[in-house]
Amino acid sequence: MQSNQIPQHIAIIMDGNGRWAKQKHLPRLAGHHAGAKAVRRTIDAARKAGISFLTLYAFSTENWSRPQEEIDGLMKLLAQSLDEYAKEATEKNIRLWVSGEREPLPPAILERIDKTVAATAGNTGLTLNLALNYGAQQEITHAVNDLLASGKTAITPADIRAHLYHPDLPDPELIIRTSGEERLSNFLLWQAAYSEFYFTPVLWPDFDETELQKALASFQARQRRFGGI
Ligand code: FPP
Repeated sequence: MQSNQIPQHIAIIMDGNGRWAKQKHLPRLAGHHAGAKAVRRTIDAARKAGISFLTLYAFSTENWSRPQEEIDGLMKLLAQSLDEYAKEATEKNIRLWVSGEREPLPPAILERIDKTVAATAGNTGLTLNLALNYGAQQEITHAVNDLLASGKTAITPADIRAHLYHPDLPDPELIIRTSGEERLSNFLLWQAAYSEFYFTPVLWPDFDETELQKALASFQARQRRFGGI
């Protein structure tokens, strides 16, 4: 049994921006803007807590079905945020990774991702992994297709792992979902095999260091057996 230390990797399903805005009689995009502020607070809180990898579910492959106006607003916000992270990542020694499919992300986003990922590749502090146009079924299918293309006829779990978007990303010990929803929504299906889950009713724009500390305290109180006794 593993003792419960600070997790090396935390992954978060940031949910509830729309409901937060609705409660305040604001447009949904105002909720996403407040959500972007919570992202920055959480990055700082994770660094402070000694987390090495933080994966944030920023846009799923299913989110393209939202109204075009909301998608455009989210893409604009993501582009703005990527510009801000580029600056902050250098100051704070953060390495940016992205998990997801490139198509059909707009060139304005892809260019910013490529630039910031390259510029921060040598940073040794927190790795911020943005799940962007991400779907876990797509990630696993992508891995299997890579293996088929390489001529493999029988594959092992290790083969699949080696063809995930980031084979070097450790599995998240802890997955957090905000807003009271309790499901995985096509997030990290392979990597979540032994993850602990923490669900909170707090809406994502209200998430902060105190909430992260509560999730960590809950994680540390658990016993992880990995199928053993
Ligand atoms: C879920 O809330 C949130 C999203 C679909 C997108 C997450 C985006 C952000 C936190 C903002 C920007 C992100 C970055 C990385 C800068 P929802 O719209 O599904 O909320 P609802 O379920 O209450 O409608």
